[in-house]
Amino acid sequence: MTKINALQLFGIIAILSTPFASLAQEDQVTFHKDIEPILQRSCQGCHRVGGVGPMPLVNYEQVAPYAGLIEYKTSIRDRAGAMPPWYVEKGLGIQNFKNDVSLSDAEIAAISIWARSGTPRGNEADAPEPLVFDDSIKWTAGEPDYIMKSNSVTKLAGTADWWGEIDYMLVDIPEDRWVKSVEVVEVNDVNTQGSSGRDTVGGAYIFHHMIWGTAEVDENGNRAGPTLAWPVHEVGRNADIFDEDAGRLLKAGSYVVSDSVHLHSNGRDTNAHLEIGFRFHPKGYQPKFKDAVFNAQGNGVDISIRGNEKDQELHAYTTLTEHTKISTFEPHLHAPGERMCLEAIWGYSVETLSCVGYDHNWVRGYAYDDDSAPLLPKGTILHITGYMNNTDSNPNVPDPRNWQGSGNRSVTNMFIDLGIRVTMTDDQFFEEMEKRRRNLNLGPNDHVIGCPLCLVPLVQPLDSASTATTRNNSIASQGVVQ
Ligand code: HEC
Repeated sequence: MTKINALQLFGIIAILSTPFASLAQEDQVTFHKDIEPILQRSCQGCHRVGGVGPMPLVNYEQVAPYAGLIEYKTSIRDRAGAMPPWYVEKGLGIQNFKNDVSLSDAEIAAISIWARSGTPRGNEADAPEPLVFDDSIKWTAGEPDYIMKSNSVTKLAGTADWWGEIDYMLVDIPEDRWVKSVEVVEVNDVNTQGSSGRDTVGGAYIFHHMIWGTAEVDENGNRAGPTLAWPVHEVGRNADIFDEDAGRLLKAGSYVVSDSVHLHSNGRDTNAHLEIGFRFHPKGYQPKFKDAVFNAQGNGVDISIRGNEKDQELHAYTTLTEHTKISTFEPHLHAPGERMCLEAIWGYSVETLSCVGYDHNWVRGYAYDDDSAPLLPKGTILHITGYMNNTDSNPNVPDPRNWQGSGNRSVTNMFIDLGIRVTMTDDQFFEEMEKRRRNLNLGPNDHVIGCPLCLVPLVQPLDSASTATTRNNSIASQGVVQ
C-alpha cells in the first residue's frame, strides 16, 4: 500500500479536479490496487457469502455501490458503528495488538479518495490473489487443532429469552494439552444476506452468551472437583489468545460444562450449535507463568447512570499484589457504554495503557502484542474509567429518559474489565523486563508505555547478590547505569 499523508492527499484531490486528471492516472486510488487489499485483510472474513456481515464486499460490483457508506463507517474509526468492529483509539496508549484488523490513517484516506473520485476500478493486474472462502475462514485465530461441538438447539421466532444449560461435552483427546488460543463460533442456518429485519450482529445469532468451563464429572454425572473457567462466549466476540508462556490446560476426559447459556430469538426460527476451537501448544510445552487469570476488575454494585446525559464517568481501582503482565484488555459495559480507559498508577507515574471505544452490539477483547503487554510491578494501581452516554445520540439505548443501575440484563449495567493477566515471581518479572529491553532495543532515553520499571536502574537485592550483579551489568551495558 502506498502511504498517503495529508499533503499528498490534498495534492491528489487537486490533481483530480484539474483538466490534467489523466496525468494522475498512475497515482490514482483504484479498487484493485488500493481498496481490495484492505477489504481482504479487514472486511471479507465477515463480508462474504456465508459470513456474518449483511452484504459481501468481495468483488467490484458488490463494493462500489457501498463506497459512500464504507467511507463513513471506516472514518468513524473507534466509535460505535465503526467498521471493522475494532475500537482501540489510535495515538493514545499502547498501539500493538494481536490480530489487529484496524485501518491505518493512510487506508482510511485512500477509501475516502476512492469513494469521492468516482470509485475507479483500475487495472485487474494490480489485484491481490482472491481469498479462498472455505469453512476454515470462520476461525479468525487460525485453524484449530481440536474442535468440540455442542448439541443443536432451536429458537423460534418471537419467543421469550431462555436461560439454562447445554449438555456436557466430553473432551475427547488422548492426553492433556496446553491451549494457546480458544474461539467459540455459533454455526446456524441464518442467511445473513437475506432480508433479516434485524441489522445488527445479534440478529445473525441466537446464543447471546455462554459462561463455561471444564470439569471432571463422576460416574453419576455430577461435577467432581473445581471447574476451570474459560473466557465467556458472547455474540460478536472475537478469539482469545493466551500469553505464550501461560497456556490453559485442557484435560483429556474432562467435560465442557456450563450453567449459564442465554438464548434469544433473532426474529426467525433458527437452529444452531456452538463450536469451540482450541489451538494447542506443542506436546511437552510447559507454561512458565502461573495460570492466566481474569482481571474481572470493576464495579458490579453501585452504578448510577442518569437519564438524558452523556459523558458520565464510572471509576474502579484495584491494587496489584503480584508483578503482573496484562495479556488482554476487554471492556465490558452495557448499552450506554461508549468508551473505557485503562490506566496504571505506579508511584508518581500515571499512564494511560489503553482507551477503546465501545459498541454494545460487539463485545471485543484486545490481546496486546508480546512486546507491548504491560509489565507492572506489584503495588501498581489499575484504574478503569467507563464513559457512559445515556442520550438519544447513542442508538443502543432504548429509552434515554430512564435512569440505569447495575444488573445482568441488557437494560441494566455492568462495568468490568474482563481481560486476562498473568502474575510473576521477582525473577520472572526481571527476566521479562530484560527481554523487553532487548527485543525493543531500548536505550536510556527511550520510554515504553506500560513498563514503569523497564528503564529504571535496578537496585541490587541483598539476598540474591550474584544474579542481581548480572542484571546490573546487563543494564549497564545498555547505558542505563553508568
Ligand atoms: C467481524 C465481522 C465484520 C468485519 C471484520 C467487518 N464487518 Fe462490516 N458489518 C458487520 C456486521 C455484522 C454488520 C451489521 C451491523 C452491525 O452489526 O454492526 C456490518 C455492517 C457494515 C456496513 C453497514 C451496512 C448497512 O447497510 O448499514 C458497512 C458499510 C460495513 N459493514 C463495511 C465494512 C468494511 C468496509 C469492513 C472492513 C474495513 C467491515 N465492514 C468489516 C460485520 C463485520
